[in-house]
Amino acid sequence: MPALNYIDVFFSVQAFQEEELRGKSAVIIDVLRASSSITTAISSGAKKIIPVADMSDAMKIASTMDQKDYLLCGEKNGSKIEGYHLGNSPAEYTPEAVEEKTLIFNTTNGTKAIKKAALASEVYIGSFLNQQSILNILDEHDDQVVLICSGWRGRLSIEDTLFAGSVLHALSDGKLPDSATDGAKVAFGLYEKFGDDLVGAIRKSDHAKRLAELVPNDDIKFCCKVNEFDVLPGMRDGILTNLNG
Ligand code: MLT
Repeated sequence: MPALNYIDVFFSVQAFQEEELRGKSAVIIDVLRASSSITTAISSGAKKIIPVADMSDAMKIASTMDQKDYLLCGEKNGSKIEGYHLGNSPAEYTPEAVEEKTLIFNTTNGTKAIKKAALASEVYIGSFLNQQSILNILDEHDDQVVLICSGWRGRLSIEDTLFAGSVLHALSDGKLPDSATDGAKVAFGLYEKFGDDLVGAIRKSDHAKRLAELVPNDDIKFCCKVNEFDVLPGMRDGILTNLNG
């Protein structure tokens, strides 16, 4: 396990420079909803997921592939993108929809965070749905680890910070040392305050309000389920696969 003062938390995609991650391991968190959808897709048997930073990158990659070999997936501002096969609701990522498929995944903040973490020595995708897999893999690390909350367009998101806090809470047995980073203390403190009622706290979040008009309410409840899936989406050569597989 990394020393607890070796774990930092960044609160948005814009809160770090690529270079800061060199030689460190990164857990990318976008509870609502990219990291939850990616985790669900991998659990449903998606062969690989190619995260991209924007629509133009998605189209560039798609243009090099046979149409039957990929699905375009993701959202812009919470809504499915016109012409895409799937949006960004975990409910869409069933085995029937994604088993053995390659997904080109493009979201407003989550996949941008994944792309920006390219210099990290390891990149994992974390959500409440696969919390134990994240704890297990971090247990094997003794390097510096950054929990990267994707946030929303540069702002903090309570749901991502709560997940980072839950990881710190579990790793420290509920006793974070004074030597922990400021970011770790903030995430840990938030989890201590709201961890008993994740659904209640996350339903009141800014992003849940944003999504309320756009997506089924069940997405929020589903994304708050803890340890629903035993998978570890992780990056190898720009592609996410199940490292637990
Ligand atoms: C994002 O990447 O910003 C989110 O996953 C947006 C969403 O909830 O669809």
